[in-house]
Amino acid sequence: MDKFLIEGGIPLEGEMVTSGSKNAALPLLAACLLTGEPVVLHRIPQVRDIATMKKLLAHTGASIEELGAELGDGSVRICAANLLHPEAPYDVVKTMRASSLVLGPLAARSGTARVSLPGGCAIGARPINLHVMGLEQLGAEIVQSHGYIEARAPGRLRGAHIRFDRITVTGTEDMIMAATLAEGETVLDNAAREPEVADLAELLTKMGARIDGAGTATIRIQGVDQLHGAEHTIIADRIEAGTFMIGAAITAGDVLVKDCVPAHVAGLTAKLRQAGATVVEAGPAALRVRGSRRLRAVDVTTEEYPGFATDLQAQYLALMTQAEGISFITETIFENRFMHVSELAHMGASIRIEGSQAIVAGPRPLSGAAVIASDLRASASLVLAALVASGETLVDRVYHIDRGYEKIEEKLAALGARIRRVKSK
Ligand code: EPZ
Repeated sequence: MDKFLIEGGIPLEGEMVTSGSKNAALPLLAACLLTGEPVVLHRIPQVRDIATMKKLLAHTGASIEELGAELGDGSVRICAANLLHPEAPYDVVKTMRASSLVLGPLAARSGTARVSLPGGCAIGARPINLHVMGLEQLGAEIVQSHGYIEARAPGRLRGAHIRFDRITVTGTEDMIMAATLAEGETVLDNAAREPEVADLAELLTKMGARIDGAGTATIRIQGVDQLHGAEHTIIADRIEAGTFMIGAAITAGDVLVKDCVPAHVAGLTAKLRQAGATVVEAGPAALRVRGSRRLRAVDVTTEEYPGFATDLQAQYLALMTQAEGISFITETIFENRFMHVSELAHMGASIRIEGSQAIVAGPRPLSGAAVIASDLRASASLVLAALVASGETLVDRVYHIDRGYEKIEEKLAALGARIRRVKSK
């Protein structure tokens, strides 16, 4: 397993270009299953989860053409003309639980979908009961056996009024996709408002879908008989942008984060400013972040968008280990998203966990150590801590970070960080 060797104490300085959003690319790739015509997507990040989703689409029978040579890295053409195997097998799903995103498209397009039940992961049980509930309300018959969820819709799905008991991002995305080909109108209440949902709706609309209200809590979809091909450039990765913004703050550096969407990181921007960092908009798609050696402790509670993103909680917690005072970090989305805390404590941080709250006492000088990544965002937290720690840190199991960050060590090194990948034997 690859490791990162990082020497801390160097401020990040310079500029970085944000990649396309992993959490937009995943549903948008799944949306290609809804038509037999080619769909071209640009700015797809080259990360492990995307490679897994491409493998899954190929398994179903879709063709995938990498267009990097002619249209630049990250461009792909997907054509799902022949859906021979409308299923997501266990060996794919076990490495990427977002495979549940193909449930809706396959059920809607081919009348049947067979998806291995995604297990839990480090951060929580991650059930998909709300996806199942939505599909049943659209008229699919759901059978669960041998670790698989099978959705059968012999006739066409029928529009329904679906209210989510709790906000679910991929649940919302799954149901939007299923509803685009259903008979009649579907209304989604208590829908997720994340920017990735709106980006999915933009692609689907280009494909001929009729969707209103994406990005709000109530989304209306008028079903159509079929969808056609389209071309789309996906939005910037707001979590990558936020991670580098925190990198500038924690190292007292000065980083220009380019090709991002400032509105998508407004929650983080407000907290960084309160903590004493300087964040200024440098044009319509860039933010300049300057850190400070004297940061103030500022509490955070994670919430669904537009609240403070749970996917930035681990990174922000690392920052608070360097802030003066006590900060309360409350995680409301997942039940076990403090796996980074023990590793940060191993580096010298002072953090106490009480239920869904982590209480951080700062500032505490961090010292380099051997630490182990447990999940995608926890690994980003450990990298950020290593950048400010004295001495060398060895972060193990960086395959977690490779799931969702494109060329992270190159981007950090270009900002002056002393980081290198130690290949496993
Ligand atoms: C998406 O996961 C993101 N992944 C996650 O990013 C992100 O942390 C999460 O949304 C919350 O913002 C992708 O978009 C691919 P949820 P998702 O359904 O859709 C519970 C990252 O780091 N729930 O919004 O799986 C669930 O257990 C990843 O990039 C049910 O109970 O999250 C959780 O407590 C990690 N039943 C809460 O809802 C369901 O059927 C929110 O989950 C579905 C979800």
